[in-house]
Amino acid sequence: MTGTSKGAGHLGSREVSARLMFTETQIGFIGSGVMGEAMIKGLLAQKLLAPQCIVASDPRSERLVELAEQYGVQVTADNVSAARDRDIVVLAVKPQVLGEVLNELGNAAIKPGALVLSIVAGAPIERIARGLNHQAIVRVMPNTPAQIGMGMSVWTATPATGEAQRQQTRAILAALGEEFFVDHEDYLDMATALSGTGPAYIFLVMEALIDAGVHMGFPRWIAERLVLQTMRGSVEFARTSKRHPAELRNMVTSPGGTSAEALYQLEKGGLRTVISKAVWAAYQKSKYLGGLNK
Ligand SMILES: NC(=O)c1ccc[n+]([C@@H]2O[C@H](COP(=O)([O-])OP(=O)(O)OC[C@H]3O[C@@H](n4cnc5c(N)ncnc54)[C@H](OP(=O)(O)O)[C@@H]3O)[C@@H](O)[C@H]2O)c1
Repeated sequence: MTGTSKGAGHLGSREVSARLMFTETQIGFIGSGVMGEAMIKGLLAQKLLAPQCIVASDPRSERLVELAEQYGVQVTADNVSAARDRDIVVLAVKPQVLGEVLNELGNAAIKPGALVLSIVAGAPIERIARGLNHQAIVRVMPNTPAQIGMGMSVWTATPATGEAQRQQTRAILAALGEEFFVDHEDYLDMATALSGTGPAYIFLVMEALIDAGVHMGFPRWIAERLVLQTMRGSVEFARTSKRHPAELRNMVTSPGGTSAEALYQLEKGGLRTVISKAVWAAYQKSKYLGGLNK
């Protein structure tokens, strides 16, 4: 639900300018799996592009039929024809097939003025630039809630990426949730550890709380309902109140009460240190994998 629904045929000025930003733009998706589809869906839902301006490539013919039927986009099993003459080429394949894709597209498939936008985890800009012999590159670290338009995408761009291309990037990523620009690729390794890997931490905490509820005697479905709404409400509370989490936590911690008792155990068990170590380990791993991929 959005709080600003508009009557049919009425476009806000932001929507109009976002649309104009994509006038005549042709975009090719290399790899049209979960994330590629989420981006296509978002672009069409926001009416940034007409379906005929989008080409999706994928190796499986059933997948292509599915995408063409559902979204009306052009489809092909040939990556080169999906990339050739496009204004934006989105690399949305798994990291293990990136080498093969770069080899395929490296031979002048990308037009000189195009933008290459990569969401491939752990693939440094340098590798893509070298593989494609192309300079205007945006690298993005999205996360899984992007699949429902609630993602956090952190991105950076090479100096050769023009202002209009940066605006287009913002609009494309806004279709997946929130986007945040960083001015150095190092921050992408940090974002990988914090927001990219973040859903894994949250789901683990979610699972642990549900199990704790079951341990006390709640039926699992009730424990799930209580935990999910508590997490959702706490996030919204933190977001809307704009107060520091410590302040919000103090508000529910009465002297000698249940929260104080539980927090004492969490601190004693080293929760903060474990979280900090986990995020640090993910950051180191991201840098290590990026180094291997150069
Ligand atoms: N999912 C997320 O939330 C998320 C978050 C952060 C980053 N990422 C990154 O986003 C990228 C895509 O992830 P995903 O979850 O969308 O993966 P996915 O669902 O597996 O999509 C990749 C697609 O590429 C296709 N493909 C395989 N080989 C190809 C080739 N040579 N040329 C063109 N297409 C090919 C695959 O087809 P087949 O299925 O037939 O092999 C599949 O449809 C990955 O690099 C991942 O690291 C994803």
